[in-house]
Amino acid sequence: MGKRALITGITGQDGSFLSEFLLNKGYEVHGIIRRSSVDFRERIAHLEGKPGFHLHFADLGDSMSIVKVVGQVQPDEIYNLAAQSHVQVSFDAPEFTADVDAVGVLRILEAVRACHLEKRCRIYQASTSELYGKVEAVPQNEETPFHPYSPYAVAKLYGYWIVKEYREAYGMYCCSGILFNHESERRGETFVTRKITLAAARIAQGLQDRLLLGNLSSKRDWGYARDYVECMWLMLQQERPDDYVIATGVQHTVREFADLAFRHVGITLRWEGEGADEKGICTAGPDRLVGKILVAVSPDFYRPTDVVNLLGDPSKARRELGWDPARTSFEQLVALMAEADMAKVAAEGAAAKVRTNLAEYLEKGIVK
Ligand code: NAP
Ligand code: GDD
Repeated sequence: MGKRALITGITGQDGSFLSEFLLNKGYEVHGIIRRSSVDFRERIAHLEGKPGFHLHFADLGDSMSIVKVVGQVQPDEIYNLAAQSHVQVSFDAPEFTADVDAVGVLRILEAVRACHLEKRCRIYQASTSELYGKVEAVPQNEETPFHPYSPYAVAKLYGYWIVKEYREAYGMYCCSGILFNHESERRGETFVTRKITLAAARIAQGLQDRLLLGNLSSKRDWGYARDYVECMWLMLQQERPDDYVIATGVQHTVREFADLAFRHVGITLRWEGEGADEKGICTAGPDRLVGKILVAVSPDFYRPTDVVNLLGDPSKARRELGWDPARTSFEQLVALMAEADMAKVAAEGAAAKVRTNLAEYLEKGIVK
């Protein structure tokens, strides 16, 4: 019999890649989903109905629902990926963020204890480089002091410490992956990388005029999400539980990401001005765009406190987990995201054209 995994946050970017990874390894995969007014779960629709793939209604804000699912599934491994994961949104909804991202972790740990699975069930907690926040050293490793700098990061810090506490107090096999930003063609559309690749594709195809961004000078260590889910699994296969930094060790600015994404869709930008006055002007590309401002800054996307210098040191993961941080380069990541969005926008454009034609045909009585 293969192992049984329970994934919270299965509908998210990482949950979908992790599900595919574990199914390929022969796991029975169970996931927690929330009731939503829209029934289509885009990232896992291709897995629903497959043998070994099961979904359960529960919510990280509802202890009883978690206890019920954990008791029913009796998992060998739990991957706690569920979170209100948007840093800017955490300033608008700080209490909800704390409930899910902090107390939610405690609810998982207690559910495992309530079901008497603490000796058998291993737990992965999705921790984050946001813990370093207003960074006290560059690059950041497992020893770097934390300085969380948003309601999201403060909530995640609780999750990190409660996992450590349960490991030491009850001898549970639970660990935190301190993951730096990881992106993909499945990334949520309001995170900066996906916002950029989608806008670049829409601008290239004449469906959008301009992209508005916040802090262009912010630096991130961006990796590919598909590579990172393997680390989550590796952390649960070790002799002893421990916490690991997962990163590429390479850093770029938001501006550099935008520059490269636009180049991939055939548009060259020149950057002019500073701060809120900075602009990305098209110097080469389709004639209709040359000379136009395609990227501008809007203070609407500034954060009350912003984390601006993340760079991870993945030496421990390389050494102890045998993980290769250089599997997908920054250039490959930008290319695969830009290409996926070019195809998505083209398909949406074609569908919209069919709908427009259909409306016209109906109006003219050509189609009845
Ligand atoms: P994501 O795409 O935003 O997915 C978040 C998932 O959490 C979704 O499945 C969401 O469900 C679920 N969720 C939210 N609130 C919930 C609740 N109350 N009960 C149950 N499920 C809930 O995030 P991601 O990028 O895959 O990230 C996965 C985890 O890693 C998160 O914990 C994130 O904070 C952490 N992390 C991410 C990164 C990164 O760069 N991606 C880096 C470090 C850490 P719905 O679909 O129903 O909304
Ligand atoms: N979202 C967004 N939108 N960010 C922008 C924009 C914009 O228009 N313009 C500039 N930025 C800057 C933000 O200020 C931030 O400094 C940086 O781009 C990255 O923002 P996000 O892509 O929203 O990601 P994040 O780093 O705040 O958070 C992500 O990574 C964390 C790991 O470090 C999320 O996935 C978190 O869940 C994760 O923990």
